[in-house]
Amino acid sequence: MASSFESSTKTIPDFGSVPRHVAIIMDGNGRWAKKRLLPRIAGHSRGVETVRGAVRHCLARGIGYLTLFAFSSENWRRPADEVSLLMQLFARALMQEVSRLEANGVRLRIVGDLSRFDAELQALIHAAERKTAANDKLTLTIAANYGGRWDIVQAINRMAVEHPEKQGRWTEDDLAPYLSMSYAPEPDLFIRTGGEERISNFLLWQLAYTEFHFTGTYWPEFDSAAFDQAIASYQKRERRFGRTSEQLLTGEDGAAGGEDFPAEANA
Ligand code: IPE
Ligand code: IPE
Ligand code: MG
Repeated sequence: MASSFESSTKTIPDFGSVPRHVAIIMDGNGRWAKKRLLPRIAGHSRGVETVRGAVRHCLARGIGYLTLFAFSSENWRRPADEVSLLMQLFARALMQEVSRLEANGVRLRIVGDLSRFDAELQALIHAAERKTAANDKLTLTIAANYGGRWDIVQAINRMAVEHPEKQGRWTEDDLAPYLSMSYAPEPDLFIRTGGEERISNFLLWQLAYTEFHFTGTYWPEFDSAAFDQAIASYQKRERRFGRTSEQLLTGEDGAAGGEDFPAEANA
């Protein structure tokens, strides 16, 4: 198993002024609704419309991968009625949006522990993924019942089963292909709306060298101007990947990415 993309800790990724991959924590739906004296689910419904706009914007700007955190492993802790309405909304969005995605060349992928969803929702997910599997303009990933820790642990378990002979000598490169987003480059830009400045167990491994952008704008109000502001902020960053500014100016790189040390060497 091999991933076709560079690892930011092994090589300097090939990146340009437009992020190849944007990952977003869509937060603030509940507060958006509360401010309007509406039920929280009204904020989530509005949030689905924002998703549509964000997909359009990625297509317009030539962003190849958009990953959206829709439901975390920890969101089951919410009141049962909100969880159930969120599941209904997810199912409805899958039914209503897939043909539009298909028409626009968007490939849909869902990552997370899907086994906890009911059979009907799982069937909708698989059908939507199959229907859009040949598209390659934009890969839209929805993280649902996803947790960064869950992802790393499921990857370790699968790697250990498939490569027991390497026990004690597994490397980053051995693990990376088992992570649920191994089909995508690591995110260049991470955005969190809603004002909180935390990762909330999103893509822990993959965000190693991602640029972060936090905005107080609630997700239902995150329009294309707000998206462009995030991209503009990204374009001002100096991405060093461990090197010095001087090296970036002269174009001279030092040693290649860090070597993986065998476990014995660290003892
Ligand atoms: C994000 O909005 C959507 C989900 C977590 C499903 P929230 O529902 O967390 O909105 P706030 O943070 O309460 O405003
Ligand atoms: C993170 O938002 C998860 C999603 C947006 C799906 P939360 O609203 O659940 O995060 P916390 O609880 O404020 O950290
Ligand atoms: Mg929230």
